[in-house]
Amino acid sequence: MTKAKGANALPLNTILPGDCIEVMNGLPEASVDLIFADPPYNLQLKGELHRPDNSKVDAVDDDWDQFDTFAAYDRFTRDWLKAARRVLKPNGAIWVIGSYHNIFRLGAELQNQGYWLLNDVVWRKSNPMPNFRGKRLTNAHETLIWASRSEGAKYTFNYEALKSLNEGVQMRSDWVLPICTGHERLKDENGDKAHPTQKPESLLHRVLVATTNPGDVVLDPFFGTGTTGAVAKMLGRDFIGIEREESYRKVAEKRLSRVRKYDRDALMVSASKRAEPRVPFGQLVERGMLRPGEVLVSPRGKTAKVRADGTLVGDAMTGSIHQVGAALEGAPSCNGWTYWHFKRDGKTVPIDLLRQQVRAEMAERPN
Ligand SMILES: C[S@@+](CC[C@H](N)C(=O)[O-])C[C@H]1O[C@@H](n2cnc3c(N)ncnc32)[C@H](O)[C@@H]1O
Repeated sequence: MTKAKGANALPLNTILPGDCIEVMNGLPEASVDLIFADPPYNLQLKGELHRPDNSKVDAVDDDWDQFDTFAAYDRFTRDWLKAARRVLKPNGAIWVIGSYHNIFRLGAELQNQGYWLLNDVVWRKSNPMPNFRGKRLTNAHETLIWASRSEGAKYTFNYEALKSLNEGVQMRSDWVLPICTGHERLKDENGDKAHPTQKPESLLHRVLVATTNPGDVVLDPFFGTGTTGAVAKMLGRDFIGIEREESYRKVAEKRLSRVRKYDRDALMVSASKRAEPRVPFGQLVERGMLRPGEVLVSPRGKTAKVRADGTLVGDAMTGSIHQVGAALEGAPSCNGWTYWHFKRDGKTVPIDLLRQQVRAEMAERPN
């Protein structure tokens, strides 16, 4: 599928062969909402690694991970990050993932190029590979960097959706998720791992729910087995994959052909509070949900009276629900919606409940 006709056509939901720098340079400028990049780690492995029983560890020793020098890796990083920034929309963002071998070099280059770092996330592996030689700490995490294209960009962040994913608690920057194993791990015809660094779908699920919306375009320039594409497809996002190795492209194509998009209702996520329609406190008074003269009470027993114009009067001061709450508490600010309560049928209820009732009516009758 392509999104526009002619030279600016976007090759959506396809895997493009070739070197990601060249391919990205051929894509239309400012056309992509999010980039998820899992570039070569440049592991610099010296010799084979064996377990205590002498079996060989399936380490990342592939050609695509080899760079002669740090300078060569840095040149490569500079070039692909530049090409990536060109295709990002002004309010677009990027995630890069790496290990201690490369993440610091990636972070420095992101900043050099004008990307604006928003967070780094530690993906703590709940089932890491042990350190077989016992000479260093078990390497139990990878780091992700989330950055907007520029400082001040209006990047997407579905704060409430992530809070919901985390059972109502604000999502933190340390994520405990297992590495990709079991039925999710793709195998080749000999039953061996199809790719040495296949990422878990759970990681991409969190990244895409957090920082994209349905219909967004997600680009992965190091597509591998297509984890980003598979999760994007399930979540109703469009993807563009770029992968140099034909064998990985084949694995990814097969995988993607089996993936189904979740139904529309399942794709809706909790809206950000800021995106919810504004309900002035005065509207509750106009609609008779609170009567002028009614007394509101704070959690610590402070009181104020509702006036006909939607202001409050309390202890020789008048103002909005927020101003009077802040003055009574001697605080610089106060969320009056959660601070003030009213009494009904012997119960004390926050006035925010009335606001939610109005919002629910608005959602039922959008016009
Ligand atoms: C770390 S792996 C990505 C794995 C992927 N995230 C997954 O879940 O399967 C990096 C991939 O980038 C590919 N690659 C490396 N250099 C590339 C380049 N210059 N252009 C396109 N692909 C490249 C490699 O072949 C490899 O499959």
